[in-house]
Amino acid sequence: MFSAQNGSRQRLEMFGDVKERNPLHKKPLCHGKKSSFRFWFQFLVLVCLLLLCLFYTVCNNTLSRGKGVSVQSTCSWLPVQTPRGNAPPYRVHPKHRLALNDMNENTEPHPAQQQPVQYHEAYPHNYRFVMENAEVCKVNSPFLVLMVPVAPSNVAARDAIRATWGKDQVVQGKKLLTLFVLGLDKTHDVEKLQQENQQHNDLIQSNFLDTYLNLTIKTMVIMDWLATRCPAAAYAMKVDSDMFLNIDNLVIMLKKPGIPQNNYLTGMLKGNVPVIRSKNSKWYVPEEMYPEPLYPTYPLGMGYVFSNDLPAKLVEVSKSVKPFNIEDAYIGMCIKKLGLSLTSPPDYSQFRDYNTRYDRCEFSKVITYILDSSEQLIHYWTDYKKPGPHCKESG
Ligand SMILES: *[C@@H]1O[C@H](CO)[C@@H](O)[C@H](O)[C@H]1NC(C)=O
Repeated sequence: MFSAQNGSRQRLEMFGDVKERNPLHKKPLCHGKKSSFRFWFQFLVLVCLLLLCLFYTVCNNTLSRGKGVSVQSTCSWLPVQTPRGNAPPYRVHPKHRLALNDMNENTEPHPAQQQPVQYHEAYPHNYRFVMENAEVCKVNSPFLVLMVPVAPSNVAARDAIRATWGKDQVVQGKKLLTLFVLGLDKTHDVEKLQQENQQHNDLIQSNFLDTYLNLTIKTMVIMDWLATRCPAAAYAMKVDSDMFLNIDNLVIMLKKPGIPQNNYLTGMLKGNVPVIRSKNSKWYVPEEMYPEPLYPTYPLGMGYVFSNDLPAKLVEVSKSVKPFNIEDAYIGMCIKKLGLSLTSPPDYSQFRDYNTRYDRCEFSKVITYILDSSEQLIHYWTDYKKPGPHCKESG
């Protein structure tokens, strides 16, 4: 249709710089023919471009919806963005991609989110006492209060403690008080608990749901009770119900001259403990709750001892420490936030965790040991309390 020269000229004409250089342009003879030809040519090019645009749009839409198999093959030569895997079907700047992926991940349910943990905004004040035994502390202020978190239904554990290390109200000449701290349990018998409390006057119950993930609430309820119902006590201990507690050794330790009366918190201290991010773990903590990879140094929750000025401070500071479900690590966070530090016990070997076997001599030297059952506690305690020397060497 065109000569090679014409073709290149037409193309140049589209950029509009040929006119001056082309002498033919000025000839009036062919002017009419030329301009109508140019009009049709430009019209044709425009229509072609429009069709191409339309085709491209149709292809793109169909592909991103993942349908239109026939169109897909037809369009395969086009530089169309095909959605791949979980990537969003639109362009994402690499800087924002991470955030989007995070958002996708966050929509997956995990154990803690399926049952969302109630941020207690610290806060024991969000709950109220169902049973509080407010008078037990006021009559005769104890030297040491043992606060034992326990499930409402676990009467066996309470009875074992009442028969063993919670039995004596005076130890080494010091007044002691042992109390059990409960939340609400859907299945528990309210009347039975009230009867149990009438008999022993040792139950403290708050109206939060008593679950493993709510242990931080329980710990802060313990602190609240100590601060508001028992401020005159000198020391307190949070001690789990599955523990062997050598109460004599504990009181002897607290009576030592060097033991501080304020800002004192001791037990089995753990530093550089990594936060568990595995969702299947019992101790899983999501990053939204606690972003740091390590916990601050904290006292293991099985049994820690503190001067009784601390509970009020802990309750106060907990308003500004975001709660998470690891109660002892949370106490570590609160202590850190208060600008305080933990104190090593005078004898580190007295705070023990798991025991492999009962040894009368060894159990007479420690303060804590973790046990397997309430029966074991009664069994070991009975033996430990038998008259006669504990250790062969000294006897
Ligand atoms: C914690 O206790 C609150 C108050 O009773 C309750 O609403 C929430 O479901 C409990 N959380 C868990 C994880 O049990």
